[in-house]
Amino acid sequence: MKKLEQIYEGKAKKVFATDDPSLVIVDYKDDATALNGKKKGTIAGKGSINNRMTNHLMKMLEKNGVPTHFVEEISDRETLVKKVDIVPLEVIVRNVAAGSLSKRLGIPEGTPMRKPVIEYCFKCDELDDPMVNEYHIAAMGWANDDQMKKIAEYALKVNSLLIAYFKNVNVELIDFKLEFGITTDGTLVLADEISPDTCRFWDATTHEKLDKDRFRRDMGGVEEAYEEISSRLLGN
Ligand code: TMP
Repeated sequence: MKKLEQIYEGKAKKVFATDDPSLVIVDYKDDATALNGKKKGTIAGKGSINNRMTNHLMKMLEKNGVPTHFVEEISDRETLVKKVDIVPLEVIVRNVAAGSLSKRLGIPEGTPMRKPVIEYCFKCDELDDPMVNEYHIAAMGWANDDQMKKIAEYALKVNSLLIAYFKNVNVELIDFKLEFGITTDGTLVLADEISPDTCRFWDATTHEKLDKDRFRRDMGGVEEAYEEISSRLLGN
């Protein structure tokens, strides 16, 4: 597979064309942003950790019936994936109150919820990714009803699978963000990444944060947290 020209650069990843029009190569960066790009920095080793952790989890999900964009890991930082049109939604699943939900609803961080909550945000940097509901999504045509049914079903299935998987390494899955895309043959698949950038992971015993909140909140120990969650999951 030939790596051709760069076709996109996001905050944490670059995407390159390949000689197959249905496939692209994702290249993970160490760059970190928060507050929708207003806070910038670098987390040494993040690109490699996020790439390898995402691939490990995508393979596990695929085996358990969730279709994903994953094709093949090419190097520490690069992965071959199916080319998709991204559905312009951030799909957030929450098990325990934290972050923006705690702020919005005045519920202390760490409060368990009776059942998982799914939230949708419209992917738009200029508007700070505003929260929307199924009616907005259908009205704007961002996804059709059939796609939304599948997105909710996959999101809850990913949640159950990830909760169980992280429990094995004494990690509590607080919440996370998913993105979905449509492949060139029209299939809805899980895309983007599943990493400490996009999930909240707390040590199940000490409740220590093992994710990007350490960067967002200037808590220190950022690289160490990424290393810790990576070694628990990937064993290195
Ligand atoms: P929030 O509490 O800030 O809304 O975040 C919920 C989860 O979604 C958390 O695990 C972090 C993740 N997330 C992203 O990956 N990207 C984003 O742009 C936002 C706002 C949250």
